[in-house]
Amino acid sequence: MIPFNKPPLTGSEQQYVLQAMQSNKISGDGFFGKKCQAWFEENLGCAKTLLTPSCTAALEMAAILIDIQPGDEVIMPSYTFVSTANAFVLRGAKIVFVDIRPDTMNIDETKIEAAITPKTKAIVPVHYAGVGSEMDAIMDIANRHGLFVVEDAAQGMMSQYKGKPLGTIGHLAAFSFHETKNYTSGGEGGLLIINDERFLQRAEVIREKGTNRSQFFRGQVDKYTWVDVGSSYLPSELQAAFLWGQLEKAEEINQNRLATWNAYHQAFIPLQQPGLVVLPIIPDHCQHNAHMYYLKLKDLDQRTAFIEHLKSNDINAVFHYIPLHTAPAGQKFGEFSGDDVFTTKESERLVRLPMYYGMSEEEREKVIEAVMGFFG
Ligand SMILES: Cc1ncc(COP(=O)(O)O)c(C=O)c1O
Repeated sequence: MIPFNKPPLTGSEQQYVLQAMQSNKISGDGFFGKKCQAWFEENLGCAKTLLTPSCTAALEMAAILIDIQPGDEVIMPSYTFVSTANAFVLRGAKIVFVDIRPDTMNIDETKIEAAITPKTKAIVPVHYAGVGSEMDAIMDIANRHGLFVVEDAAQGMMSQYKGKPLGTIGHLAAFSFHETKNYTSGGEGGLLIINDERFLQRAEVIREKGTNRSQFFRGQVDKYTWVDVGSSYLPSELQAAFLWGQLEKAEEINQNRLATWNAYHQAFIPLQQPGLVVLPIIPDHCQHNAHMYYLKLKDLDQRTAFIEHLKSNDINAVFHYIPLHTAPAGQKFGEFSGDDVFTTKESERLVRLPMYYGMSEEEREKVIEAVMGFFG
């Protein structure tokens, strides 16, 4: 069976995890934790990053940092993972879902303004498939209405929007190092980027269970104590060590994925002309990280038949994101603004093809052949 995903492995993770284990400092923010954060700060050109146990945790930290209160409204696409919404619902927010654009599957920036009310506190664009949302328009809306922007860049590490790395544009941003992402910190992991310096000090405190422990370790206070709300958002040093093994080969991993992405794309262009499929669209001003390759078929029935066809050829293809506004919790905690023109229709016909670091040419060709076979 060709799997849908294989967690990336570069070969050096084991050695670094062992080194961390032998260091007598495995609880986090040790040698590897600091090394990873410095790598992100240098490579993304941002002032402050904090490793977290997951993207979910980074989003939860963001919701605390922007001081979401019960009754506040947060705008986001419905076509996203549950954590994008949950992080804010946990603080009592109501989620206001906005339709997506059919080309990138990202929030339709032209429909955001109609969803703003006096209770709106933040906009959370999701960079689907590592392709940037329309950040210029989103930041302009946010600035005019005094709103925070939290980028859900779970899938977007090393992608760019108009030359700027995703995650460096909003006030805060969250990334994932889950095993399905381009880089993983041993299965689970994440990163919070703090672009607005107002949040710097409080972010450290929230991450360390509400204490000023980070200041204590830097010698800035002589004892540490409970100073604010917080939780356990510091990942273990073993996760950071694993991640370091991947960051050393970050470019190689993305280039390898890009080769598969480009091979799929070239092979499927002939299917697009007669309208058999819709291929991913990358706007000219976006540079993507080959996180995902998807096809959009005619409808839900055809997608079901397509996935079955690939399965009979020993290929595992998957779909995801039942639009949140149609889910039981989405109905309880949120509401769709305006009409659902594209969210449900486009999500029901999207299917993701196998994509992972180290995918062989033979595997890739087998997938291409099976896809072409489906369309005769
Ligand atoms: C858009 C989006 N946001 C958030 C998450 C949550 O990431 P994590 O599993 O690291 O918490 C995911 C996970 O796939 C995601 O796709």
